[in-house]
Amino acid sequence: MTPHRLAVLCVVILLTGCGTDVLATPGATGRSSGALPFVIPDPPQNPTSMAKVELGRLLFFDPVLSGNRDIACASCHSPQLAYTDARTVSLGTANVPVNRNAQTVLNTAFNGLTLNDRNPEASTAPMFWDARARSLENQARGPVKALGEMRGAAFDEMQIFPEVVRRLAEIPAYAAAFDAAFGANAISEDTIVQSIAAFERTLVDTNDSYDRFQRGEAAALSAAAQRGLAAFRRNGCDHCHSGPMFSDFQLHRLGVAGSADVGAGNGTFRTPSLRNISRTAPYMHNGSLPNLDAVFQFYRRVDDRLDPALRGVRGPDRNEAADVKALLEALSDGTFDTSAPATVPSGLIH
Ligand code: HEC
Ligand code: HEC
Repeated sequence: MTPHRLAVLCVVILLTGCGTDVLATPGATGRSSGALPFVIPDPPQNPTSMAKVELGRLLFFDPVLSGNRDIACASCHSPQLAYTDARTVSLGTANVPVNRNAQTVLNTAFNGLTLNDRNPEASTAPMFWDARARSLENQARGPVKALGEMRGAAFDEMQIFPEVVRRLAEIPAYAAAFDAAFGANAISEDTIVQSIAAFERTLVDTNDSYDRFQRGEAAALSAAAQRGLAAFRRNGCDHCHSGPMFSDFQLHRLGVAGSADVGAGNGTFRTPSLRNISRTAPYMHNGSLPNLDAVFQFYRRVDDRLDPALRGVRGPDRNEAADVKALLEALSDGTFDTSAPATVPSGLIH
């Protein structure tokens, strides 16, 4: 464990103990209001520990989890690219494109946190553009088993986790790390995904300019960003992008062009969080919009009959665009962990 990571964890643990209700800050008004809490929720079935986090970090960066040993979680969720890949759609094993844009892993520890549910159950947190997986633990099974993402054709869905377990057991550093995190002979599909999820829960930024403003530090948000917040609300963006995550975590139909993807059915997709949005272009489930100006342009022309929550929604006009951008930038000061392990126990290049 590097000193930096150790410090981050200690802060997390310290703050977990304090139990302050930061969401109840006076002055936090409106549907897009509220700072992210300092307390990171973890499921009772998988309490976070330092040993799990450190193991999960190695697994996240190690291509040993892929059938062809050629791709890791971090290949599509790179710390240097705000835990995404800057591609329209991701490239899977053997460099074959997959069908969707990679979401960031940052702050997924808070998926499900909304104005109505301020203490969401981490074991049922919605994941993916179509919310088809629940919890970070279950999500992590997906890419390993998916043919085009990490599995490759050499193994079938039933074979891949037993194969990965066998590989990890043969690497002494992993055997020791699993012992430390879970006890003897504990390498399994469940403990693999539990340690990855524990690591992902440390990838948060809960004290950005916007959060500090919401906690009462008036000068933390520039005048432009404050005007942007007003414009964001006036234009109805917070009908869906509400709460501390700027998401209601509900499914909505926007009619994004250039996609045959039906999402969760009938072209509906989960409202994405706007946390760190200024660092995660291109946008939408198919990566079809290259920058925020294109997103604003999209909302100026959106067909408001497609979804009840689109009623009265307007894209920011030319005068408002810079201000709304300033607001969105205040959701990302870049204070998250961008480190990567120098090497991984398999010796593979990541
Ligand atoms: C080939 C690129 C690729 C690889 C490898 C990959 N991912 Fe992803 N990740 C994606 C894409 C694309 C999505 C969106 C998929 C969808 O919605 O169907 C995604 C979504 C996610 C999400 C959901 C975020 C949210 O807000 O719902 C998490 C968490 C995640 N990935 C973690 C991981 C982990 C952990 C691994 C390794 C076990 C991994 N990913 C491997 C491309 C990848
Ligand atoms: C009806 C609910 C709803 C409203 C209102 C809404 N959005 Fe969205 N937003 C979504 C959904 C759902 C997506 C993902 C759509 C997709 O990929 O097909 C999205 C995507 C985005 C994205 C891209 C996110 C990413 O990670 O790629 C941005 C940026 C965004 N919206 C900003 C805004 C702004 C600014 C407004 C106000 C003008 C707004 N939204 C209004 C539901 C909404």
